[in-house]
Amino acid sequence: MTNRVVTLAHYYTQPEIQQMADKVGDSLELSLYAREAEADTIVFAGVRFMAETAKILNPQARVILPDAGSTCSLVTQTDVTALKRWRESHPDHVHVSYINSSAQHKALSDWIVTSRNVDDIIAHLYAEGKKVIFSPDRNMGAYLNYQYGYDMPLWSAVCEVHDKFNEAALQEAFDAVPGSKYLIAHPESPLPVLKKADYVGSTSGMLNWVKAYQGDARAVIFVATEDGILYNMGLARPDLDLRQAPIYAGCQCNSCPYMKMNTIEAVRRAQQGEGTEIDYLGEAEMAAARVPIERMLEFSR
Ligand code: 13P
Ligand code: SF4
Repeated sequence: MTNRVVTLAHYYTQPEIQQMADKVGDSLELSLYAREAEADTIVFAGVRFMAETAKILNPQARVILPDAGSTCSLVTQTDVTALKRWRESHPDHVHVSYINSSAQHKALSDWIVTSRNVDDIIAHLYAEGKKVIFSPDRNMGAYLNYQYGYDMPLWSAVCEVHDKFNEAALQEAFDAVPGSKYLIAHPESPLPVLKKADYVGSTSGMLNWVKAYQGDARAVIFVATEDGILYNMGLARPDLDLRQAPIYAGCQCNSCPYMKMNTIEAVRRAQQGEGTEIDYLGEAEMAAARVPIERMLEFSR
């Protein structure tokens, strides 16, 4: 009997990995694809919370993470026992959690969101008169509170890659460009950076913005997110001057160490069945985590 292996890759993985994948996408697209995949084995070239989400949505499949170290700082900075206490201290609030969270964290949530649907889901909850607490990304929560005038209490974890973007380095880069310039940014970036952005959105959202760009052909477009996305942007619009937003002058250093653990060798080994199998989640935990994820997928359909 053949073993149907499906390989998924996030936009932040290196180009060669994306070329090896059956599907490349953002967190929402990859979750949906994993859920529907008719696969015996799903190799997830991304980070652990993504592979866990795939397992929760497609429990029949064997899900393999190429490198056991591929975590995410939003997960490692969140102590789930403390999170449970925080949630219990807001009994009249709906708990909305970003998908960059562990399975235990998701099981303590009413809704899961990704950077693609977070604006719409929280707007929907406020429209229903709900009070909301948001975890774990403090920067994303601060942006939502600022942008829409919400008053959500926030958990305090950050993405260690995006949190390094800062106004001073950006201003310096802007000043060095004589003509028109744009900034597009992922909402995991700090609020002062997001306030300067012409567009804020998910990896797919930023990619679509670039694809649709019709402005000054000589403009410089600074991209405040992980460097992997520049590959797809460059393929889509080789005519544009796309540059990584700097963290300090001259830096080309917006790399997620966890995403980049997906080496070609590790992905090839995972396709042969080696690597870290996501086989440690209990049935009850997966069932509890599935509820808020499915709620999101139903909303985003
Ligand atoms: P996206 O869902 O926008 O692809 O984001 C995933 C992520 O980890 C960003 O750092
Ligand atoms: Fe996590 Fe940041 Fe890496 Fe995304 S870029 S996986 S949020 S550490």
